[in-house]
Amino acid sequence: MNTLTLPAATDIHVHLRDPGQTYKEDIASGTRAARRGGVAAVACMPNTRPVIDNADLVETLYTRVAREAVVDVHIIAAVTVGQRGLALTDFEALKRAGAVALSDDGVPVRDDALMAQALLAAQRVGLPLIDHCEPETENIERDIALVRQTKAPIHIAHVSRAASLALIRAAKAEGLPITCETCPHYFFFTDERHRELGGNAQMNPPLASQADVQAVIEALRDGTIDCITTDHAPHHRVEKARPLPPNGILGLETLWPATLTALYFTGLLPLDTIVDKLCHAPRRILKLPPQTHTIDIDLDAERVYQVHPDSRCVNTPFAGVALRGHIIKE
Ligand code: DOR
Ligand code: ZN
Repeated sequence: MNTLTLPAATDIHVHLRDPGQTYKEDIASGTRAARRGGVAAVACMPNTRPVIDNADLVETLYTRVAREAVVDVHIIAAVTVGQRGLALTDFEALKRAGAVALSDDGVPVRDDALMAQALLAAQRVGLPLIDHCEPETENIERDIALVRQTKAPIHIAHVSRAASLALIRAAKAEGLPITCETCPHYFFFTDERHRELGGNAQMNPPLASQADVQAVIEALRDGTIDCITTDHAPHHRVEKARPLPPNGILGLETLWPATLTALYFTGLLPLDTIVDKLCHAPRRILKLPPQTHTIDIDLDAERVYQVHPDSRCVNTPFAGVALRGHIIKE
């Protein structure tokens, strides 16, 4: 067996569905999936029921995390009250309660003036602001203009389109404080997989063209994309079977094997670059201390992936796909 010891990953875009939608996932089940996937720390998104938009809820959740989580959990709080895009949350109180970043993931903050105000307030308290951009390219263009105007930093979630990456590349060249992430599904699959599979390959932003996949890989290579996250988004099989299924796919179990299969075993990216995008860059972006946990990966093992029986949901386009590189010590 060809075993490699590497730092464990930190995934800064995870939906734990807790509180409120624990039939999909909860703190315990989501962090077990992370551990199986070689992920020692997650940052969870606030689009829960209720929305994580106040310090009391952040504190309550950290108390539960201490009892229920099997990996480190860092809480991302909402930018606006109820994620309704109307009034900013109390960034200072959220920071004091231990929130590590702010995001209305699932919906962008539409109002330009409010978004500019949010960028400045987040910078003042020292919390990274993560934007879910939709429509992706248009919203990124707007955000870049606001960063140019305010000089305040932003992190762009799940970037998937060539046109978006061209804008981010130019903004970085201009010296603007912008970072971004992509997810394995955007460099592994084209929209062909969505047509094949339907709901279980449907997420937001949706899978794209071969040219977009190439652009994502190029942007990982040239540093335009800083890090890789999963956007782990469990949805129940009954919901996914509906005519209009909700957006989102699982990702924690397949983060390492999908990334290694698509980028390392193809020779597209060297291992140290992959390790930086999965393990170190996410922690730099959220200003977390360096990761000390390690994992062991069997580099020879190729397996047809099936969702672990412990998972409450099965919504993933990686089911039935041969992946190489498996976690043997969590
Ligand atoms: O596909 C997605 N699912 N994209 C998002 O931005 C939200 C997420 C979810 O919460 O299900
Ligand atoms: Zn999102």
